[in-house]
Amino acid sequence: MTHRKPYVGGNWKMNTDGASGAELATAVAVALETEHSVDIAVFPPFPYLAGIGTLLRDRGSTVLLGAQDVSDQPGGAFTGEVSAAMLLDCGVKTVLVGHSERRHVIGEPDALLNAKAKAALAGGLDVVLCIGETLDQREAGETDEINERQARAGLAGIPAADMPRVTIAYEPVWAIGTGKTATPDDAQNAHAQIRRVLADLYTPEVAGAVRIQYGGSVKPANAAELFSCPDIDGGLIGGASLKATDFAAICHAAAAAPAL
Ligand code: 13P
Repeated sequence: MTHRKPYVGGNWKMNTDGASGAELATAVAVALETEHSVDIAVFPPFPYLAGIGTLLRDRGSTVLLGAQDVSDQPGGAFTGEVSAAMLLDCGVKTVLVGHSERRHVIGEPDALLNAKAKAALAGGLDVVLCIGETLDQREAGETDEINERQARAGLAGIPAADMPRVTIAYEPVWAIGTGKTATPDDAQNAHAQIRRVLADLYTPEVAGAVRIQYGGSVKPANAAELFSCPDIDGGLIGGASLKATDFAAICHAAAAAPAL
C-alpha cells in the first residue's frame, strides 16, 4: 500500500490581524522547525498572505502557505475576487476549496467549487477540497451519499495526473467549531467510503495515494486517536490552529500516528 505522509492544515478563517498573524506564523514555524514527518500548512486571511509568505520564506520554514479561497476566473472584472496567479505571486502553495462555511454560509454550489479547483490546479496551486454532511443529512443517514456527491462534483474533469496535488478534507459540518467531534469509528468509516469513491473515479492506486484529512473540533486531546485510524491522514484544524502550541501538538500527534 502507498505510504501517505500525514498532512495538517491550520485554517485561521477570519481571525488574526497583521501583528497577531505574523506572531502566530512565527510561533508555528519555530515550534515545528524540526517536524519533518508531517506536511504542514497555514491558511491565513488574504490580506496577510504576502507578509506571512515572506516571513516563512525568510525563516527557511517548511510550513506551507495556503489560502482559504480562490476565484474560478483567471483575471478581469471580478470585483473582490482573488486569482490563482495572484496567490502564487504571494508565495501561496495550496488553497482550500469548498470549505463548509463557503458552501453553506456563502452559498457556493458544487459547479463553482469544481471550477475553482480546476482554476487553482491550472494556476499551479495544490487544492484541499473540503466535503462533509450537515447534521440533518447525518441524521437522515445521508453522510456517504453527500460525501460521494460532493467528491464527484468537486473532482469532475480533474485528471488522475493532477490528483497528487489534491487533498480531500472531510469536515462534518456539525463538528465544525461546535466542540463535537465525530467518533474515530464514524470518521474512519466516512474516510474509507470517500477513498472507495476515489478508487471508482480513478484507480485504487490513485485513491490509495490521496490524503484525506479530518476536520471538526480537532484538538491536542483527541488528535492522536483520530489520526491512528487507517484512512485518516491528518487534519484540517480551525480553532486550535490559532494557538501555536496546540497546533504544534496536533502536528506532532499526526507524526506519531502509526505509519500507513
Ligand atoms: P474547528 O477545528 O474550529 O472545528 O474548525 C474546523 C474547520 O472548519 C477547519 O477548516
